[in-house]
Amino acid sequence: MESLLIHGGNKLTGEVRISGAKNAALPILTAALLSAEPLQLANVPHLKDISTMLALLGHMGVRVTLDDQNRVTLCGESIPNKDAPYEMVKTMRAAILVLGPTLARFGEARVSMPGGCAIGSRPVDLHIKGLQAMGAEIHIEHGYIHARAKRLKGAHIAMDMVTVTGTENLMMAASLADGTTVLANAAREPEIVDLANCLIAMGAKIEGAGSGVITIHGVPALHGAQHSVMPDRIETGTFLVAAAMTGGRIRATHAQPDTLVSVMGKLADAGAHVTSGEDWIEVESDGVLNAVDVRTAPHPAFPTDMQAQFMALNCVASGVASITETIFENRFMHVQELRRLGANIEVTGHTALVRGVPRLDGATVMATDLRASACLVLAGLVAAGETTIERIYHLDRGYERIEEKLTQLGARIQRVH
Ligand code: EPZ
Repeated sequence: MESLLIHGGNKLTGEVRISGAKNAALPILTAALLSAEPLQLANVPHLKDISTMLALLGHMGVRVTLDDQNRVTLCGESIPNKDAPYEMVKTMRAAILVLGPTLARFGEARVSMPGGCAIGSRPVDLHIKGLQAMGAEIHIEHGYIHARAKRLKGAHIAMDMVTVTGTENLMMAASLADGTTVLANAAREPEIVDLANCLIAMGAKIEGAGSGVITIHGVPALHGAQHSVMPDRIETGTFLVAAAMTGGRIRATHAQPDTLVSVMGKLADAGAHVTSGEDWIEVESDGVLNAVDVRTAPHPAFPTDMQAQFMALNCVASGVASITETIFENRFMHVQELRRLGANIEVTGHTALVRGVPRLDGATVMATDLRASACLVLAGLVAAGETTIERIYHLDRGYERIEEKLTQLGARIQRVH
């Protein structure tokens, strides 16, 4: 089991190059199942979840080639296996994203139900309901989703909840359906727009991606394409919070400022100095921050994937602030770990009340999920003394070489086995 050892107290300064977005790359990789021709992707991040998805696609029959510039070429010409086995799905819920494309192109798919995870039950009922609305016959047996459809038909689908991967699954399925599909109450996340841009490059007819209503006119087949994955807005936000908390100055390059407006606004509210350009965002701070209230909600509101990072910021800011998590039912696992570092946090239902303390003190803490791990790294960067973070395999799922990037910025951090 690997851990991260951090000596807190250093200001972080310098430039950090942002990697491709995990949550855009994952659905875009499954888009390769929609075409018999090669899909060439640039800016694919080197992450555990990406390797898991590539292994799953390879198991299904996609031919995957990687080159040394982070470029991945996927060819879905022949897909003998239409199944996503439990062993591969249990470690990564995003595997559910192979359901829509496989069903749409081949008329059948067999995908293991994703288990729950640390942050919530995370059902996929809306994915299934949407595919049924398009004419799929779906039954669940022995923990697997069995789906069949001669050819999916366009449908008007009112989605009861905003679901990111639900929207992505249905948008991909609809791109090969017979007729027009309208997704109402669709997710508006930037990763949806990136996936839509990739599908459009492959010949899909999609309007409204990024708005709450997406219209997809089905086509008989999609062709190959080239696409570069958008920058990771959550990785960007995490480094910008690190600049604010440590009282340094960090410029995130190869970023996409227009995907982080709410996060940049909250950093400014906290007293950091935020500037941005075409493809960079810079945060400078003297480390004296005001606590800021945060309420997560679907994009363009404040993202749930940045909630834990702002809880770390509030722990060392002056004043009291509330953090309300409206998306997942159990996304406060980092609270008890932050308390071990001396944080003052009270949780009532979906709201955490954080009282800033003059300083945190290093301790051994345990990562529980991806973004909670990032929050503990941030806290360790400012805590006095040594902080050891255990179970950092959670971190490796969503952050590429985080200790290298932080070391380049002046952090004292190392991976210990
Ligand atoms: C995506 O998860 C992201 N993952 C998550 O990022 C992110 O936190 C989440 O969207 C919210 O923004 C990927 O894109 C791979 P949802 P997803 O479906 O699609 C409920 C990270 O840290 N729901 O938008 O699984 C669900 O339980 C990860 O990178 C249903 O009830 O999230 C949740 O409460 C964590 N039925 C809410 O909707 C459904 O059929 C939003 O979930 C689907 C969802």
